Amino acid sequence: MKTSLSRIIENIKVAEGIYKMTLDVDTKPVPGQFYMVKGLNGDYLLPRPISVHDYYDGKLVLLYRISGHGTDMMSRMKEDTEVQVLGPLGNGFDLEAIKGKTAVIGGGIGTAPLYYLAKEMKKADMDIYLGFKDIVYSIEDFENTGHSVTVATEDGSVGTKGFVTDCVDYDKYRMVITCGPDIMMNKIIRTCVDHKIDIYASLEKRMACGVGACLGCVTETVNGNKRVCKDGPVFNGKELIL
Ligand code: FES
Repeated sequence: MKTSLSRIIENIKVAEGIYKMTLDVDTKPVPGQFYMVKGLNGDYLLPRPISVHDYYDGKLVLLYRISGHGTDMMSRMKEDTEVQVLGPLGNGFDLEAIKGKTAVIGGGIGTAPLYYLAKEMKKADMDIYLGFKDIVYSIEDFENTGHSVTVATEDGSVGTKGFVTDCVDYDKYRMVITCGPDIMMNKIIRTCVDHKIDIYASLEKRMACGVGACLGCVTETVNGNKRVCKDGPVFNGKELIL
């Protein structure tokens, strides 16, 4: 993990409020890890935690949603601008532990880190479930991983109308991996516990330092408070109290 300056290769809009930034970085991250990204020259001063959406040939791809001033500024940054990146950070998914039939369930921008996981685990017996409110993105990328992809939208504009959690036949799976809103992950965790299925959840939290120093990202677990940035963002779901 190190801080470095990185050049923006591309920064494009992929859907309303959703952008994809591609950066030059030299360290290959593990799926589930994240970077703290910060503008220079007053572009935006607080670093933003963004999960790894993809990595190939020394290029890091970050898919992010505009959720405030910092990410709005980030979306306006042009090619060849330099940003400061710190990472890769946090514990990613334990790829060795992913065995047997696995359901990968993402909600909204929580689908972003799951693409790199699905791509790196092309040979795994994995089904992908993607849930969105109304605006969808990256579906084709997931389909290109070769895994089966099921999409649900709350307004029914794409795929099944309703919540993606209702599309999953949990009894088919040995393991579930999820990332998305707490309310969605909470429901999935409770279902997995009832069905005695292994469950791993990647949490999203506001972060200030990203390295375990400020305690600003603490989450409650059955083993006491844990820092999402340092002890996660991937947790055994059975440990979490969401
Ligand atoms: Fe500072 Fe996690 S963001 S401890």
